[in-house]
Amino acid sequence: MRVIVVKDYDAMSQEAFRLMKATLTEKKDAVLGLATGSTPIGLYREMIADYRAGGTSYRDVRTFNLDEYVGLDVSSDQSYVYFMRNNLFDHIDVLPENTNIENGKAEDPEAECARYNALLSETEIDLQILGIGSNGHIAFNEPGTPFDSVTHVVALAESTVKDNSRLFKSIDEVPRRAFTMGLANIMAAKKVVILANGANKARAVYGLCRGEITEQLPASILQKHPDCTLICDEAAASLL
Ligand code: F6R
Repeated sequence: MRVIVVKDYDAMSQEAFRLMKATLTEKKDAVLGLATGSTPIGLYREMIADYRAGGTSYRDVRTFNLDEYVGLDVSSDQSYVYFMRNNLFDHIDVLPENTNIENGKAEDPEAECARYNALLSETEIDLQILGIGSNGHIAFNEPGTPFDSVTHVVALAESTVKDNSRLFKSIDEVPRRAFTMGLANIMAAKKVVILANGANKARAVYGLCRGEITEQLPASILQKHPDCTLICDEAAASLL
C-alpha cells in the first residue's frame, strides 16, 4: 500500500483529486466507485471546481456508490442518494442514468442486493474512493464481516450509529440497517484510494496499513490489494 501523508484535510482532498483526474484523463469513460460521509466532500468540491473551470467532463463516466441506509431514499435529506446529488452529481455533467446506488426503499432488500451485485459483476470499477470508520469499517462492512462478502444488508455497529448521529437530529433517527457493497466487491476494483483525516481515525489507519489482516478490522484486507493508496492527514497518521 502506498501511504501519502499530507498536512490537512484540504491537502488530502487535493491529492485525491490529482489521482481522480489522472484516472479520468487516461479513461474518459471510467467507472468510479464513490463514498459518502464527511471525508470525500473536499474531493467532490475539487471535482466540481475543476468541472466549472472547463476541466474534466463526466459525460461518459459511470458511478457506483458503496452504500445506502435501508428505509431512506432521495426524499430524505439524510439518504446517501440525496447526499451524492447535493454534493456532486447535481454540479457536474454526469448523466443521472449512469449513477448507481442501492435503492434504500426497495421492497425486497435481498432482491436489491442481487440486482446490485449483478450490475457490479458486469463491470470493473477503475477507481474506488473510500473513507474509513473509526472502527476500521469500509463502506458499511463492520468488524466481523467476511472478506469474501458481496453486497448485503448489515446491522450497523453501535459505534457507527453514534459516529453518524451527528448528521441526524437525534441518535434515534439514525437507521440501524444499511445496504453495503461487500469487501470482495471493493477488492475487485482496479485501483483503490482510501482517505482519512482527523485523530479519531488514527487507530483505524494504523490497523489498515500496519496491523494484522483480520476481519475484525475490515479495512486491513486492503493490504492485499495490488493498487491501493492511502492519503491521510498528519492527525490520522499519528500512530504510523
Ligand atoms: C460512506 C462509507 C463509510 C464512511 C466512513 C467514514 O459511504 O462507506 O464507510 O466512509 O464511515 O465516514 P466519515 O467520512 O463521515 O468519517
